[in-house]
Amino acid sequence: MNILLTGGAGYIGSHTALSLIENGHMVTVIDNLITGTKRLIPPKAKYYNCDIADSSSIKKILKENKFDVVMHFAGLTKVDESVNNPDKYNDYNFEKSKSFFNCCFENNLKKIIFSSTAGVYGDSSSQYVKETDEIKPMNPYAVSKSKVENFLIKKSKSEKINYIVLRYFNVAGADEDKRSGLISKSSTNLIKVICELATKKRKKMTINGNDYQTKDGTAIRDFIHVRDIADIHIVAANSFFKNFSSEIYNCGYGQGYSVKEVINEMENIIRSKLEVEIGPRREKDIAISVANSDKFKKKFNWKPKFNNLNYILKTALEWEKIN
Ligand SMILES: NC(=O)c1ccc[n+]([C@@H]2O[C@H](COP(=O)([O-])OP(=O)(O)OC[C@H]3O[C@@H](n4cnc5c(N)ncnc54)[C@H](O)[C@@H]3O)[C@@H](O)[C@H]2O)c1
Repeated sequence: MNILLTGGAGYIGSHTALSLIENGHMVTVIDNLITGTKRLIPPKAKYYNCDIADSSSIKKILKENKFDVVMHFAGLTKVDESVNNPDKYNDYNFEKSKSFFNCCFENNLKKIIFSSTAGVYGDSSSQYVKETDEIKPMNPYAVSKSKVENFLIKKSKSEKINYIVLRYFNVAGADEDKRSGLISKSSTNLIKVICELATKKRKKMTINGNDYQTKDGTAIRDFIHVRDIADIHIVAANSFFKNFSSEIYNCGYGQGYSVKEVINEMENIIRSKLEVEIGPRREKDIAISVANSDKFKKKFNWKPKFNNLNYILKTALEWEKIN
């Protein structure tokens, strides 16, 4: 396949680009480096430094190449920032995506894979969240993603487009060969913070709330290794050529770990105690977010390769040590 991939200088996009190339596909990356890092783009990928909403450049790229599928990762990802600046998130994640997709449709690129988030479910009452559960995003970041989902659903009714929306749960880990991983100076990503602590880049960390209705009082999340997310994209892209219909899929393992369990696992790996304090809950944070991930697994007979918290933490730690 010839894939157009936005956000390929970012964490998940760069891993997916690597997997695609390893599997013999051609990849063209569009990224304006607003949060991305150029060296994460695989050397074998073609790269355009361009904003997804720069319609004249995008149209030119689309005319110069003939893409089979577009994978749209580009966007802003920080929930806290979105709460302080909702307009920016509406603009970057919704308006710019809309403009980008319209250019794609006009140029006959109509097979779309879109990076959405489990955040669209908000504080679901389900123990394992299903794709059919109610959508009630609780912050502007999740709202912006939900708006793009709705845009694609609506467009698929009026134009012949095919979409696959992937709702990621907590993406974590890094490439075992250390070619890519999470780079961010101000990440609030739990595993990133734990790795910074384990490599002594920070002195202590705060657990945001230990009074949730969970087994140890701390929040529970479903962590999925970034290489499995990359693999899901390849399976999803292939499905367009096997006459599968437009769908929405959860991307998680269907297994939850509490914040304390993740910290304990890292302490086992590094064989020392981490400096952890208890703080208040974060505003609008939810107690449990775990996927029901049966839909994708059953439809494509797909099995994750890296469903192992120890492996997720070790690969993230090794990446942190060299960055
Ligand atoms: N990391 C997670 O756990 C997670 C969970 C759910 C959903 N997602 C979604 O997955 C996607 C990728 O996330 P990530 O963690 O790799 O983020 P990231 O910040 O590492 O990567 C995003 C990339 O998009 C680029 N970008 C942003 N706006 C752009 C624009 N207007 N034009 C061109 N390039 C632009 C950035 O420079 C960056 O390289 C995002 O859409 C995010 O919302 C991530």
